[in-house]
Amino acid sequence: METIKLNNEVSLSRIVQGFWRLHTWEMSPQELLDFMKKCVELGVTSFDTAEIYGNYTSEKLLGDALLLEPTFREKIQIITKTGINKLNPDKPYRIKHYETTYDKIKASCYASLKKLNTSYIDVYLIHREDPLFNPVEATLAFDELINEGCIKAYGVCNYDPFKFDALYTQSNHQLVTNQIEVSPLQFEHFNSGMMDLLQKYQVHPMFWSPLNGGNIFTSSDENVVNLRNILERIAIKHNTSSDTIVYAWLLKHPVKGMVISGTQKITRLQNAINALQINLEHEEWYEIYCASGEQILR
Ligand SMILES: NC(=O)c1ccc[n+]([C@@H]2O[C@H](COP(=O)([O-])OP(=O)(O)OC[C@H]3O[C@@H](n4cnc5c(N)ncnc54)[C@H](OP(=O)(O)O)[C@@H]3O)[C@@H](O)[C@H]2O)c1
Repeated sequence: METIKLNNEVSLSRIVQGFWRLHTWEMSPQELLDFMKKCVELGVTSFDTAEIYGNYTSEKLLGDALLLEPTFREKIQIITKTGINKLNPDKPYRIKHYETTYDKIKASCYASLKKLNTSYIDVYLIHREDPLFNPVEATLAFDELINEGCIKAYGVCNYDPFKFDALYTQSNHQLVTNQIEVSPLQFEHFNSGMMDLLQKYQVHPMFWSPLNGGNIFTSSDENVVNLRNILERIAIKHNTSSDTIVYAWLLKHPVKGMVISGTQKITRLQNAINALQINLEHEEWYEIYCASGEQILR
């Protein structure tokens, strides 16, 4: 499996397994550990979660599985996130809101370490853009967490080019990624200039919801059906499956992003891995880019 070096401490597998939907999978700790081991056997060693996934339960599910075999921790990289305060009976919040203060980042990190049953997080991310975001405060918290050995690298998710640039500069270029939604149905970051800024700084993004949460294969929307037909035609030509073609489309971009698969099925994760062997033609890439009707060429 190809890996992407984020800094001197952390490299991630190009295909990452996501655990946003883990709380719906109904896996026992042993079943989850077995699932993670199968991922690692396939070369997928990097696992993505967040403080709020499963209404604050996902990190603990992962931690319970890791506890069964503590030596397994060294074989994987854990990515988790802070910055969202969601309504929950155990939390004091009146409304859902974002918070990226020094206190929040540090307290969340210590809580995540505990739930994950680990002494360190490989990549620690701010989950959403906070209108009250203060890059000086955030950098201070992240740098302290690095010095304390709690995290190996830090980054953001869903940032626009301006906020990314502010934190990138403040952190003395330490931001290692921007985890963003990109798929043949989601073009925000092409249009905002984010993909270009990341290339300028040679920062590799992580692409979430690559299959638009499965909608690419289930939606009856006319434009999505058109996309599906194009994917099927290109898949037949490359002797592969349509989802593999979506992953190959994401991997072809010169920004060299990592793709986060959200499936609970190892066969579908294998389809993502197969994409590493496929090089789409330039025109095939554009057919997919324009298929949904969202991106219009002038
Ligand atoms: N930073 C952020 O703000 C953010 C936000 C959202 C997600 N993420 C991360 O990104 C990861 C991936 O996101 P995602 O789960 O939305 O990814 P995704 O891979 O686009 O969607 C996964 C969903 O699609 C279904 N699916 C896959 N192939 C399918 C097919 N051929 N036909 C029908 N359904 C199919 C899967 O079902 P099966 O399980 O049955 O295969 C699963 O429910 C998350 O787990 C999380 O780690 C980050």
